[in-house]
Amino acid sequence: RMDVIETIAGIQLPGHLHTAQSLQYAQEFQFQEGDIVIISYPKSGTTWMQEILTLIYSQGDTEVATSVPNWERAPWLEHTFFKDLLKEGEGPRIITTHLPSELLAPALQNSKAKVIYVARNPKDVAVSFYYFHKMAKFLPDFDSFTEFLQKFQDGQVHYGSWFQHVKGWYAQKTNLGLFYITYEALQKNFRHSLKKLCKFLGCPMYSRELDQIQNHCKFPVMSQNVMVNYTLIPHKIMDHDQSKFMRKGIVGDWKEHFTDEQNVEFDKLFQEKMSDCGLQFVWS
Ligand code: PPS
Repeated sequence: RMDVIETIAGIQLPGHLHTAQSLQYAQEFQFQEGDIVIISYPKSGTTWMQEILTLIYSQGDTEVATSVPNWERAPWLEHTFFKDLLKEGEGPRIITTHLPSELLAPALQNSKAKVIYVARNPKDVAVSFYYFHKMAKFLPDFDSFTEFLQKFQDGQVHYGSWFQHVKGWYAQKTNLGLFYITYEALQKNFRHSLKKLCKFLGCPMYSRELDQIQNHCKFPVMSQNVMVNYTLIPHKIMDHDQSKFMRKGIVGDWKEHFTDEQNVEFDKLFQEKMSDCGLQFVWS
């Protein structure tokens, strides 16, 4: 198993992809006009958004999406290899990050980057994250979902607390002109979400192009796309026999995993943590 490091803000990160230098670089990054930044807590629909944006900027053409891995065409700002992937002056550059607002909002505040925040029902995030811990050999293993859920609720997982992540970034909504969207909205009405996104980005699309994006970004299609399903990652780093990266792709899988008690406890915690943030959550 690979090392875990602690960051300055006390957030745990997988050591094989993050160093103190890569985090410093991320925090001091000079965003340029035309940059599009996808921000999300892990397992919230990041890969889906990476694919959607790739397709928007290729006008629905699937060439890039089927020939370049997502981590190269929409690289993670905080990863050690980010520096070598992104060229200055080229655009539009799609940049991905899981960093919390405490670490990254200052760098974005005076930039012209367009910021998209993707959120997902934390109960489904917890389930997805639990299975990801099974497959990802750089993350600790948990004996049971119950054990993992406790850590998740305490924010003792990689990238820290879900509550803080969503609250922190949502508080930046006006400041950054941030486009907030949920996994559930994408599931419920993909076409509508896509159109709103295109409008935000200032990218008018023909209906034929929207059709292409919609077809290509469907779960069964993305699950088969080796450029996004992480099967290119060596087995010793991600074990697809344990769980697939493109696992279920549904809303509400938490109902199969939470006990009634856990659900009540989680709702209580949610209420405590989120009641003051002004966000209306519509999960179903
Ligand atoms: S990561 O590791 O943070 O980049 O993971 P992330 O991409 O944010 O989240 C992975 C979950 O998103 C699901 N997914 C999709 N759902 C529906 N449609 C599409 N096209 C899609 N693409 C990815 C993926 O299956 C993971 O969720 P679970 O619940 O585990 O299936």
